[in-house]
Amino acid sequence: MYSPRQLERVRKLAYTHSGITLSANKDVMISNRLDKLKRFLENENIDEVLALIERGEHIDTFVSAFTTNKTNFFRESFHFEDLKDRIVKQAIETSGELKIYCSAASTGEEPYSILMTIQEAKELYDNSFLNHSLIATDIDKQVLDHASNGVYELGRNTDDFPSWIKPSKYFKRRNHPNKDAEYLIKVKDALRSKVRFEQMNLMSPSYPFKPNEFDVIFCRNVLIYFNQDDQNNILKKLFSTLKVGGTLYLGHSESPLGLTPYVERFGQNIFIKTKEF
Ligand SMILES: C[S@@+](CC[C@H](N)C(=O)[O-])C[C@H]1O[C@@H](n2cnc3c(N)ncnc32)[C@H](O)[C@@H]1O
Repeated sequence: MYSPRQLERVRKLAYTHSGITLSANKDVMISNRLDKLKRFLENENIDEVLALIERGEHIDTFVSAFTTNKTNFFRESFHFEDLKDRIVKQAIETSGELKIYCSAASTGEEPYSILMTIQEAKELYDNSFLNHSLIATDIDKQVLDHASNGVYELGRNTDDFPSWIKPSKYFKRRNHPNKDAEYLIKVKDALRSKVRFEQMNLMSPSYPFKPNEFDVIFCRNVLIYFNQDDQNNILKKLFSTLKVGGTLYLGHSESPLGLTPYVERFGQNIFIKTKEF
């Protein structure tokens, strides 16, 4: 077990480098992740490991150890139904353009679900001219590498696909290097080329986007890791990059907090921007 002082140093480092708040009831989780971190850095002395990180070394590795990357394809599927049935349809009928930002992309399942949905909707509305773009960011370099590589396990990762998606259209099969019976699937280049993955910390004082740049922002299942003041600050920065009339999707236990007077609730954790903050 680690001492209260060591755990406090970890809490401080996690907050400084990612904004993630590790509460006192997370001590077992912190300890497990520190064990892994020590193994990864091949150094059994936790004080030495923490001192290295406090000096600014191995920051990406440290952050990666304390992020929770749980995600899956078409998670909270009603958001993808809304994207298909309302947003793409509207974009086709109006500007012919759709700019989307996915702010906690993790290993890529969410941004690829967005792209598959847009493709299906374009076919549904018989429109191949919609000009769409997707930027997907995450603080964790390791998950971004996984995302841009685009390799997933068939079955384990694809059980939640809705009936209107055919995996073979978007993924090619690859043999598993070790197990004969299992398959990996790799996102086809045509889909992969439509997303730009970038490392970005949502706690950064400003974001590299223009005001009112996006029609849609996905910010799902990431605010829960921050304290309420930081959630509000992140929401405000994201909101300034969303067009009036644009849509913000939040995760199932997240809310727009201070933005509430500036949005209209359209559905389950679906918020439309009605005016500037
Ligand atoms: C639980 S996953 C959610 C993934 C996806 N949005 C979903 O709903 O399935 C949370 C993600 O937030 C990322 N994250 C945590 N802190 C962050 C920060 N300060 N800036 C950007 N991303 C962060 C983590 O690396 C992780 O991949």
